[in-house]
Amino acid sequence: MSLTGAASAPGDLLTFADDLRVVAEDVNACLTSLLPLPQGPEQRVVEAMRYSALDGGKRLRPFLAVASADLFHVPRAHSLRAGAAVEMVHCYSLIHDDLPAMDDDDLRRGRPTCHKAFDEATAILAGDGLLTGAFAVLSDEETHPDGDTRAKLVAALAEAAGAEGMVGGQMLDLLAEDMDMSESEIERLQVLKTGRLLAVSCQVGGILGQADTATLEDLRTYGLCLGAAFQIADDLLDLEATAGDLGKATGKDDAAGKATFVSLHGPERARKRAKTLVDQAVAALSPFGESAELLRAAAAFTVNRQS
Ligand code: IPE
Ligand code: IPE
Ligand code: MG
Ligand code: MG
Ligand code: MG
Repeated sequence: MSLTGAASAPGDLLTFADDLRVVAEDVNACLTSLLPLPQGPEQRVVEAMRYSALDGGKRLRPFLAVASADLFHVPRAHSLRAGAAVEMVHCYSLIHDDLPAMDDDDLRRGRPTCHKAFDEATAILAGDGLLTGAFAVLSDEETHPDGDTRAKLVAALAEAAGAEGMVGGQMLDLLAEDMDMSESEIERLQVLKTGRLLAVSCQVGGILGQADTATLEDLRTYGLCLGAAFQIADDLLDLEATAGDLGKATGKDDAAGKATFVSLHGPERARKRAKTLVDQAVAALSPFGESAELLRAAAAFTVNRQS
């Protein structure tokens, strides 16, 4: 059964789009309440945070958090907050990724990037505010009544977002513009910059559900494989889609001479590799049986998506 209550075949993409929309609406409401505008001129930074966090985005990471937590019958009020926290980190990573010092992009989610709509300094601060705010959300009793569980959520997100995760991956990604990289180096880069945040989205669902270590590891494996496939799909879209479809500039990786799976092996082999990774992601779900239908659908979506 899907989130919308419609009977569906596993992996049914149309139903998945509806399911994703349901979570996106709920997480938008959650993020709106988590980012109230303060009084005083400092509210400019929160305006920039809201600009980048409230509008648009597929909301795949909150979806993964909710769908993983659903496996353990976690109340949605908790899993949505955990998903919103990961999305706040994701939105911060996009604001900083778009800065002139990094990818220097003017368009994000179909609108001017944060530094274009505001200014560079405000965009840096908005990213900082979203990053730190995410940990305030996870450490709040409203996310989980048990302090140990909250500490595990905080530790998992910190590890995934930091130098051993997304930040380290972004460093490698910048270096990849001037460096030849082997296939295994590119895969490591992609797992760090994209896989770790997608994996922790699943892990927070398991942590909220008090899942045992082996089960958390299965969710992490699923998320890491999904994340590597997701980044290959992003690189393929950068090559093959239009800015109108994606809401962000395309052709950037090629222009920057960036080493990606696509630049190394070409689009056909990249597509095959993404499909293999999706199969590996789905294989990690086998202990969950039918209850992991939403996560299987998310895996299929990752490589079939058009934006
Ligand atoms: C874009 O992520 C950045 C990558 C990690 C490839 P998404 O494709 O999930 O971006 P939004 O959130 O839908 O805008
Ligand atoms: C960014 O990868 C991944 C992040 C950690 C933000 P990209 O630079 O390829 O993402 P897009 O294409 O700008 O969304
Ligand atoms: Mg980048
Ligand atoms: Mg970029
Ligand atoms: Mg990209």
